[in-house]
Amino acid sequence: MASTAQTSKTKRIVIDPVTRVEGHGKVTVLMDEHNRVTQARFHIVEFRGFERFIQGRPYWEVPMIVQRLCGICPVSHHLCAAKTMDRIVGGERLTPTAEKMRRLMHYGQVLQSHALHFFHLASPDLLFGFDADPAKRNVIGVIAEHRDLAVQGVMLRRYGQEVIKATAGKKIHGTGAIPGGINKNLSVEERDGFLEDIDQIVEWAQGAVKLAKDYTLEHLDELADFGSFESNHLSILSPDGSMDLYDGVLRAVDAQGNRVIDDVDYADYLDYISEEIRSWSYMKFPFIKSLGPERGWYRVGPLARLNTCERIDTPLAEAARKEFAGLTDGKPNNVTMAYHWARMIEALHAAEKINELLHDADLQGTDLVTEGERREEAVSLLEAPRGTLFHHYRVNDRDEVEAANLIVSTTSNNEPMNRAVQRVAQTHLDGKPEITEGLLNHIEVAIRAYDPCLSCATHALGKMQLRVQLVDPEGEVLDERTRH
Ligand code: MG
Ligand code: NI
Repeated sequence: MASTAQTSKTKRIVIDPVTRVEGHGKVTVLMDEHNRVTQARFHIVEFRGFERFIQGRPYWEVPMIVQRLCGICPVSHHLCAAKTMDRIVGGERLTPTAEKMRRLMHYGQVLQSHALHFFHLASPDLLFGFDADPAKRNVIGVIAEHRDLAVQGVMLRRYGQEVIKATAGKKIHGTGAIPGGINKNLSVEERDGFLEDIDQIVEWAQGAVKLAKDYTLEHLDELADFGSFESNHLSILSPDGSMDLYDGVLRAVDAQGNRVIDDVDYADYLDYISEEIRSWSYMKFPFIKSLGPERGWYRVGPLARLNTCERIDTPLAEAARKEFAGLTDGKPNNVTMAYHWARMIEALHAAEKINELLHDADLQGTDLVTEGERREEAVSLLEAPRGTLFHHYRVNDRDEVEAANLIVSTTSNNEPMNRAVQRVAQTHLDGKPEITEGLLNHIEVAIRAYDPCLSCATHALGKMQLRVQLVDPEGEVLDERTRH
C-alpha cells in the first residue's frame, strides 16, 4: 500500500508494509521540491522489552524463553542462548554427541530458512523480473510456471524442519539444547530416515546454487548497480579461516578485504562493536569501534560470510565458493543482490554438513551434558541464517538473569538496508515522483536481499504492532497510524 503526503517543499512517499519480508517494516522517502531524493529511511519499531522480560528468570529457562522472540528463527535464539549458558555452567567444552547434535540442529535450520527465503520470497523476483506483474510475481506464479523448482523448495525446507524436529524435539520451540549439552541423541531409525533422502537434498541444493549463480551472472551489469555499495563485512568463522556457522572467532574485513577485526575472541565483543542510537529510528545502528560510526557500519549474513571466510570445508560448497570469489578476484563482493547466490552456497554447505554428521556415530552417543566452574557473565555468538547473532547474559548467585544484551542480525544490517533503499530510490525516483508498482518492488527487492527478520529486530513480545509515522526533517510528526 502506498500513499503520498505533500507539504510545502518536501514530498514524502511511504511504502507500507514491505511485502515478502519476514514481518513488517516501513520505508519513508524524502524528496525536495525538484523531485530529488534527499533521504530514504527503512523504519522498524523496536520494542526493547525482551531483554528486560528475561531479567529475573532462571538461567536454564532462557534457551526456551528466547525462542518466543521470533516465530521465524526460534532455533537461532535457542542455540545462541544455550551456547551462552554453557559458559555460565562452565560446560562450554561440550561432549562430542552434544556438539554434533547442536550442529546438526543448526544446519537443519540454515537449510530450511535459506530454502524458504530463496524459493518462496526471492525467486519470484529473479524468475519473472522486478517489473513483472505482481499478480504473477509471487510464489503461486512460481508454482504455476516452475513446478519442479517450487516442489524442490518445499522439500528442502521440509527436510530441514525434520532435522530440527529430530534434534530439538519440535519443529518450533524445541528444548533440545540445554546449558552444557543436549537432552537427546539421534536414534538409528531417525538417522536412517534422513540418510535415505540426503543425496537428493544435496543435489537439489546444487541446483539452487546454479540457479542463483546463473541469474547473477546473466544480470551482472544491472545488479552491480542495484542497491549496491562498498561496506565492511563481519562474521564469526573457524580460527583456520574456514566458514563455521556454529562457533568461532570474530573477523571483519573492509570493502577491499583488509582485516579490520582480526579473529578476536567474541567474548570481548564490547571492545570492538558499539551501537549508535539515532533519533529517527527505534532500531540501533551497530558499528566497528575502531572505524567509528561513520565508516564502521558493516554487513552480516550470507554475503558477509562468503566475504570473510577463506574456504568452506565441504567440497561442493567450496567449489561453488571459488566461483563466487573468482568473480571479484578473491576481494569482497559488495553487490547487494549477490546475497542470493551466497545464501544458496550456504544452503548447499548445510546439506553437505548434515550428510557428514549423519555418518558420524557420535550422534548415537549417550554422554550428553557437561558442566564445570560457574561463571556469572557470558557471551556467545552464532551465525544465524540472517547473520551474526550476539547473546550476552549476567546471572546472579540466585541463578536469575540479571542483565541481557542481544544484537540480532537484522540490527547489524540496519545501516546497509537503509543504504540499499537510498541507492535504489535515487536511481528510480529522481525526477520521477510517481509511485509505480515497479518502483515499489525495486525497493522491496533491495530490502529482501538481506532477508530481514523484523520480528526479531523489534524484540517484540508476541505479534508486533506496526506504527506508521510521517516525520519531517525537523523531526515533527505529520501523521501517525498504528495497525495490528
Ligand atoms: Mg540489544
Ligand atoms: Ni527472527
